[in-house]
Amino acid sequence: MSVLTFHSAGESHGRGCFAFLEGLPYGLAVDTDFIDAQLKRRQGGYGRGGRMKIESDKAEALSGVRHGKTMGAPVVLAVWNKDFRLEKAPELDCPRPGHADLAGHLKFGAPIRDILERASARETAARVAAGALCRLLLKEFGIEIRSHVVRTGPVAVPQDFAPSWEGLAKADASEVRCLHAASEPKMKDVIDQAKKEGDTVGGVYEIVVQGLPIGLGDHTQWDRKLDGRIAQAMMSIQAMKGVEIGTGFANAAKTGRDVHDAIEYRKPLGQDPAGGFMRPTNGAGGLEGGITNGAPLVVRVAMKPISTLMKPLPSVKLSTGEPTQADIERSDFCALPAASVVGENFLAFVLAQALCEKLGGDSIEEMKRNYEGYVKHLSQPRGGKSGGSGKAEDSSE
Ligand SMILES: Cc1cc2nc3c(=O)[nH]c(=O)nc-3n(C[C@H](O)[C@H](O)[C@H](O)COP(=O)(O)O)c2cc1C
Repeated sequence: MSVLTFHSAGESHGRGCFAFLEGLPYGLAVDTDFIDAQLKRRQGGYGRGGRMKIESDKAEALSGVRHGKTMGAPVVLAVWNKDFRLEKAPELDCPRPGHADLAGHLKFGAPIRDILERASARETAARVAAGALCRLLLKEFGIEIRSHVVRTGPVAVPQDFAPSWEGLAKADASEVRCLHAASEPKMKDVIDQAKKEGDTVGGVYEIVVQGLPIGLGDHTQWDRKLDGRIAQAMMSIQAMKGVEIGTGFANAAKTGRDVHDAIEYRKPLGQDPAGGFMRPTNGAGGLEGGITNGAPLVVRVAMKPISTLMKPLPSVKLSTGEPTQADIERSDFCALPAASVVGENFLAFVLAQALCEKLGGDSIEEMKRNYEGYVKHLSQPRGGKSGGSGKAEDSSE
């Protein structure tokens, strides 16, 4: 089904994190400064532990790139680890609640170290490198992604707080990536307090995408619906436990009249990826029936508090079954700002995958030709082509 695929390899303290991307078109300019800037954003944020001070992540293209452009061949990006000590890393005996430690050990019969090395969120460096490259593809089509933090632990921005698109560009200026001035210092206090108490914090971030054409994703099969694909991708990021599209959870308490977005048509000026069909509201978050509808895509993701606690929870010794406290590894106290950067970039992979499906094409040039033809078609008046009678239909199941 998918023409673009992504896989990662690598361990937290192995040689590095590796991203395998297959299906990128020929001729995409690979701006390594942009990719490295995304990797740097992933390393930042208030509440990080010691590891990020050791690493200074940069991506190296090992294959599929020549003269600064993709070759239409599989691309491998490497992010080398400075903290490479896999063979000498200490073994753990007391599994940490909230991690894959116990289940992984029992499932594979492997030492906890072998499980945690791969389960670690260090893997997100590979996702960001690959996602940033996909983001360069999206940029070619005017698609841009931004994000901000809307909750850190108990501190949430007001429900009606909706920064402008321009405002969202300023989130990186905040160490907690929060744009609400009154909430920002409270979020830092929550993280400071948790750190003092040997505890950790999670939260929620929101990602907004502008410039998506109508028609990415597909209503015809469960695994082609873009909302489902986004949810899977976001949920697969370490520690993400909730995904919401548009005003998803709040919608459940409302009636249809207050949730769904009316449809308007305005004659488009030039080529419009929404084809002149406008939505005055965006409760759907840019997706209807698993297909982008031309409105901005809005995705919220909930991150659980970091699992490794400096004041550890009860656990047992695997060797004896004796009760004890969980082991401690060097750890973040809050990684929400970094997680929002991971979310942005990994979402770029899912959207690039859907864009490649829609536009086909072996090269970026061909994709652009196909895009132009497609959005031109969207802008045409429908004439008699809608096939509808204008009469009420039975829309029950
Ligand atoms: C950017 C980022 C950094 C993370 N850093 C840590 C960390 O330092 N310590 C930790 O215990 N968990 C950290 N996590 C979360 C764990 O990797 C994750 O909770 C764990 O692998 C279990 O997976 P699950 O929570 O998805 O079930 C981080 C997650 C992300 C996205």
